[in-house]
Amino acid sequence: MVIMSETLKRDAEYLSPALGRAFDLVAVKGEGSFLYGEDGKKYLDLTSGIAVNQLGHCHPEVVEAIAKQAASCIHTSCVVHYPANIDLAEKIASITPGDLNNTFFCNSGAEAVDGSIKFAKKLKPGRTNFIAFKGAFHGRSLGATAFTSSKSAYRKFYDPLIPGIHHLSFPNIYEAKTQEARDKLVEHHEKIFLSYFDTVVHPESVAAIIIEPMQGEGGYIPAPGLDGSKNYLQFLRDFCDKHEILLIFDEVQSGIARTGKWFASNHYGVVPDVQLMAKGLSGGLPLGAFSSRKELMYEMPPGSHGTTFGGNPISCRAALKLLEIIERDNVMDNVNARSEQVFKFFESKFPGSDSRKPREDLNDKIKVRGLGLMIALVFPDAETVTKVKNYAYDKGVLLLGCGTYGNIIRLAPDLTITAENLQQGLDIIAEAIAK
Ligand SMILES: Cc1ncc(COP(=O)(O)O)c(C=O)c1O
Repeated sequence: MVIMSETLKRDAEYLSPALGRAFDLVAVKGEGSFLYGEDGKKYLDLTSGIAVNQLGHCHPEVVEAIAKQAASCIHTSCVVHYPANIDLAEKIASITPGDLNNTFFCNSGAEAVDGSIKFAKKLKPGRTNFIAFKGAFHGRSLGATAFTSSKSAYRKFYDPLIPGIHHLSFPNIYEAKTQEARDKLVEHHEKIFLSYFDTVVHPESVAAIIIEPMQGEGGYIPAPGLDGSKNYLQFLRDFCDKHEILLIFDEVQSGIARTGKWFASNHYGVVPDVQLMAKGLSGGLPLGAFSSRKELMYEMPPGSHGTTFGGNPISCRAALKLLEIIERDNVMDNVNARSEQVFKFFESKFPGSDSRKPREDLNDKIKVRGLGLMIALVFPDAETVTKVKNYAYDKGVLLLGCGTYGNIIRLAPDLTITAENLQQGLDIIAEAIAK
């Protein structure tokens, strides 16, 4: 029988159960790559609060930046202008792809999605349709839920949602064993995509296409276009250009250096019309944003969208410090080195597991895919994932699942994790799999 701590009893009494928790662990402190539990145990956190804590828990310089700003000014909202907000928008313009140079701040990923959809509606009057992808996760607000299709459970109870949203299939090439099979799969998806516009939705009725360049909750699946495959994002870019449709990249999870570049789209060399970010942007504080070109952003007149807390001074200062540290400490080099460490480790333990490139000898028990420190361990079933997660938890390692069928463990540690700490986690995962 599991004995509930007093804290968990109060949690159950006073907190809504709608927000499920991955573990019945009460954390009392976070430091670097570790969380400390009420139970006195230290846990290696390979989740970083769902891909948020890019610099680990409580990075001292981010904490200092927060404290300094808090002592100076906590909140003004849109009553006045303030420097932290302007400084961050200017900094973001220097890291967003291409010519995206103007930003609207909000508090979360879902708000960034909602804002970008309102933006598309304003820019494309009369175009009432939107295209999203199966397996996509865009958040839990009523708007973002309508674009989400990674699990029907997220939509259950809330239909009918926003009309005019069409979910097309996202090409997952990672099960294909040869380059030829991958190319065929991408071509097949392109055909389905095009035929949808010939038969169901006219392109001129579509305001925007929203896609995660690397699907997150749907299973950490990069869009085709890496390792010699046909570039699916470029295909979408060309289609959008041809039909004057806005292309929105939701990089709430894959952005801010998580994949080893500022944005996953950088790996593909494709520039969207609207770039979304949140999660890793502000060292754990609530902050989201959508960026586009100034001339487009200026089509939204004052008052056409708004927020009370969005882009608050403290979150903006934390974000500025975080972006500065990522650049100063070459954090992306660590992302790439630790990523290779993961792929090499699993390949040595489970030959044929590295499924980034097509190969005939794919391991059928575990496949590893992803980019940077956004890595999926794909198992045959959800039961294995539960066992591995529970074993790792007992040994002090926190892991999260993802994917429609629950058969995937995602590794999303902080981007500054050391080789030693990461190895400790990998050894325990391998031990769990062996068991
Ligand atoms: C790609 C993507 N978009 C949007 C969201 C929603 O973000 P938030 O939970 O901050 O609203 C998430 C959250 O997991 C996400 O992964």
